[in-house]
Amino acid sequence: MMKPIKITILGSGGWGLALACTSSRLGHDVTVWSKFSDEIEAIKRTGELKAKLPGVQIPKSVDLTTDISCVSGADIILVGIPSQFVRSVCEQAKPYTDEGSILLSTAKGLEDGTLKRMSEIITETFPGNTVAVMSGPSHAEELGRGIPTAVAVASKERAAAEFIQRAFSDNVLRLYVNDDVIGCEIGGAVKNVIALCCGVLDGLGLGDNSKAALITRGLSEITRLGVALGGKPKTFAGLAGLGDLVVTCTSMHSRNYRAGILIGQGVEPEEAVRRTGTVEGYGCARVTRKLARKLGVEMPITEEINEILFENQPVRQGIIDLMSRPIGEE
Ligand SMILES: NC(=O)c1ccc[n+]([C@@H]2O[C@H](COP(=O)([O-])OP(=O)(O)OC[C@H]3O[C@@H](n4cnc5c(N)ncnc54)[C@H](O)[C@@H]3O)[C@@H](O)[C@H]2O)c1
Repeated sequence: MMKPIKITILGSGGWGLALACTSSRLGHDVTVWSKFSDEIEAIKRTGELKAKLPGVQIPKSVDLTTDISCVSGADIILVGIPSQFVRSVCEQAKPYTDEGSILLSTAKGLEDGTLKRMSEIITETFPGNTVAVMSGPSHAEELGRGIPTAVAVASKERAAAEFIQRAFSDNVLRLYVNDDVIGCEIGGAVKNVIALCCGVLDGLGLGDNSKAALITRGLSEITRLGVALGGKPKTFAGLAGLGDLVVTCTSMHSRNYRAGILIGQGVEPEEAVRRTGTVEGYGCARVTRKLARKLGVEMPITEEINEILFENQPVRQGIIDLMSRPIGEE
């Protein structure tokens, strides 16, 4: 077993805390930071994150703080913040971050405006640090309860990916090393867009044939985009591609899928997102469409969900449009 290291987790949401439980179980020195003192106080008071991980006891050995200087001296700084806030939180952490710390992104999204992946933002903020990403089929609610989970960890620096693999792996969580940062991040971000559309299908009461077709064709368009950006095709058949897509498109733990169901049932998209909470696929749908158009990549499902989300396309018409596209080769 690896000797204990210092891990600082930015974000005290479901995912940050599920990984805090894992790393604390492995004997590491773990600190969790949140910008919001009410979040930290509630976890300290109750010993759990009731809204997101009910029944999961956060080990007492985990330090909980709102002081961002807690990143100092960390071997790994894990970014567990929703993607739209990653840049601002990294900028806050920068003055206290040592050059030797590995920045590990677990956020799944693309930045509005710049169209950048999370590791690009982190590398821009911390040019002297090694950056890695963790992605794969992993609901916090399940990992937190000790349900076996496997994810990929990717970095341009193989030694860093292997270090993270050793730091977090046990008989509950297994990490597989991968060198395709782009593929892992595009798989993780864009599956949320396809999951929203899958939810719409289920909200409309369509069947398993439709859903399987959507997941499969969704994977094709995620792969086209990822490969156009420099990702490797085989990554999309792995944990960060097919694995994450399947879990997100089929599980009620997925907020993107749940928001899609509401939209399929006739709830206005903005209202569906408001009711659901963090729905990263909503913003990511728009960014993905911009990126695809810029690169000339065909993404019909992404196009259609954008029309439903932002251009008042009635959901049934959206499905008819997808089924009426010119027929062709697989
Ligand atoms: N939940 C999961 O199962 C899971 C699994 C894998 C990856 N992820 C990814 O991890 C990231 C976090 O997910 P989560 O489910 O823990 O999210 P969450 O909505 O539970 O929030 C996580 C944290 O972000 C903080 N936050 C919110 N707004 C902020 C702001 N303006 N500034 C600073 N911090 C802010 C919250 O306070 C909270 O501590 C996401 O990018 C998600 O895609 C989540």
